[in-house]
Amino acid sequence: MRTIAQISDLHFGRHDPVIAEALLASLGAERPDLVVISGDFTQRARSREFMAARAFLGRMTPPKIVVPGNHDVPLYNLFSRLFTPFRNFDRFVRPAGLPGAFFADDSVAVLGINSARRLTRKNGRVSGEQMDEIRRAFRPLPPSIFKILVTHHPLAAPRDGLRLQLAGRAREAVDVASECHIHLLLSGHHHRSLDGIIAEPVRNGDVLIVYAGTAISTRTRGAEGNSFNLIRLEGNRVEIRVMGWQPKRGYVEVRTSSYVLEEGSWRSAPTW
Ligand SMILES: [Fe+2]
Ligand SMILES: [Fe+2]
Repeated sequence: MRTIAQISDLHFGRHDPVIAEALLASLGAERPDLVVISGDFTQRARSREFMAARAFLGRMTPPKIVVPGNHDVPLYNLFSRLFTPFRNFDRFVRPAGLPGAFFADDSVAVLGINSARRLTRKNGRVSGEQMDEIRRAFRPLPPSIFKILVTHHPLAAPRDGLRLQLAGRAREAVDVASECHIHLLLSGHHHRSLDGIIAEPVRNGDVLIVYAGTAISTRTRGAEGNSFNLIRLEGNRVEIRVMGWQPKRGYVEVRTSSYVLEEGSWRSAPTW
């Protein structure tokens, strides 16, 4: 059994320090095997925001996969945006994560890909080179390994889910994910927590999608508050516990969904 905590869209610079402490307390209690942080560490990619993010990551003991988001690219400093878009991310945050943004043990493999781009303000993209990186990471792995791909920008929408803006070349990336028998796509960006089975047909069975909300920022959307996901993997089953922030209680479980993989198809299942 493995437990992965997915946290996203921290937005240091627009974060709530009380919720940040509650998140650390919850992670300390849940003791995940891995923490995935799916981008937007800062609000405006300023050095002091990255330094705060780095100090925060330093207080989490599990290994970490980190990928940047669109907010981690400088917006107003055009020179930095064009020529050194990921300098602060590379300096402060990347070293806190696993090399190559890749984790693998005898039951799970997780790869993070940078979908943020210097020339687009909000939208993301997956390049041909990154498609090859995905193939190199996952193709050699046996079917028994649970395979997870992480991007900041969503690559697909779940059935009956919200219609959301997806990363550029998302359809092609999903084809590569299917070709590599990837089980699960993790992303953030929209500040809404959501999970489900992929809407589009894919060649090699279904793919699950899990989006995370914003863990500690004040940039919550609509009625949705701050949240993060605890993803439990066991055999052919996945359980997603959405942990929501509540002012007097801290982080508590607010929703749980469960899926089982049978003959290449995911279906909803009763929670464990
Ligand atoms: Fe964000
Ligand atoms: Fe974003």
